[in-house]
Amino acid sequence: MTTSTVRVNLGERSYDVRIGQGLMARAGDEIAPLLARPRVAVLTDENVAGLHLESLRAGLAEAGITMSALALAPGEATKGWDGLEQAVEWLLAEKIERNDIVIALGGGVVGDLGGFAAAILRRGVRFVQIPTSLLAQVDSSVGGKTAINSPAGKNLIGAFYQPALVLADIDVLSTLAPRDFLAGYGEVVKYGMLGDADFFGWLELNGTALAAGDANLRAEAVRRSVQMKADIVARDETEQGDRALLNLGHTFCHALEAATGYSDRLLHGEGVAIGCALAFELSAKLGLCAQEDPSRVRAHLSAMGMKTDLADIPGDLPDADTLIALMGQDKKVIDGQMRFILARSIGDAFVTSDVPREALRDVLSEALSAR
Ligand code: GLY
Repeated sequence: MTTSTVRVNLGERSYDVRIGQGLMARAGDEIAPLLARPRVAVLTDENVAGLHLESLRAGLAEAGITMSALALAPGEATKGWDGLEQAVEWLLAEKIERNDIVIALGGGVVGDLGGFAAAILRRGVRFVQIPTSLLAQVDSSVGGKTAINSPAGKNLIGAFYQPALVLADIDVLSTLAPRDFLAGYGEVVKYGMLGDADFFGWLELNGTALAAGDANLRAEAVRRSVQMKADIVARDETEQGDRALLNLGHTFCHALEAATGYSDRLLHGEGVAIGCALAFELSAKLGLCAQEDPSRVRAHLSAMGMKTDLADIPGDLPDADTLIALMGQDKKVIDGQMRFILARSIGDAFVTSDVPREALRDVLSEALSAR
């Protein structure tokens, strides 16, 4: 497989996302052009360290680069003030300088926290993302959203801070548990639903083989997803407009994640998939898209063995009004107005605040009563 490159065009902050197999082993050659001296600091978590840190060390050593690493505790709880302090103080103790490179090796937690640590260390040190989950490869490692969580909510403390390079090594996806892979696939299929009907059709044809492990199909799915994200981020880096399209399904998802206590009852990507199905349901109810579209969305998610409905979430859920209240906490609320990403068809999403509460309540009540 040849490595493909997606360029994120942001003027002097532009960078490449390299996608392919064996990138960990070639990390030294990929990163060397960015370095002022042959050493890097790696932020990771204990699980990822056990799986990939030695391959990265060997890949860097091939190019004469030495590394030191900090493995944080795995899990969302690390993405807070304490984890940030640990990371930043360690980088300072390692004497990482303004011209050095910090590598974030891991999934969304490590990428978001590592990126934010790099953003504030000495007022900004360049960083490289090496995402190890599908979700991180197609979404969180690209586009420069870095953050930690606050007790007041998720991702509330952060910065737009673009990486200098992203290395998406397709081989690392084979170490993911099937549930984690499919959760990441929720973000992949989101791209088809929001802006590329052909890609959605391609996923309908190839999704099962891709999930079963076909590396070429995986690389193509990551490339197309990243290309779409890169195009949107280049148009609207700080989410003044179009970038909100990337949040298709997320207003529902954030309410469901809050309702399930951010636990493993519902992974983020699973919530995105269910949220996308609900967004299409709402679009159909409002007469914006064909009645067949939500069924087609659900059919594909089910064919992939994914959660598609509120009925697939174990345990109790609150009623429709409580879920709507939780949606009101979403970061996309402006002047008290909730913003939704709805669709005119598969591949044609748009942002609107114009959603009658009754229609929203009906969609949620119907979904809850099917449980
Ligand atoms: N994950 C959505 C965004 O990067 O804008």
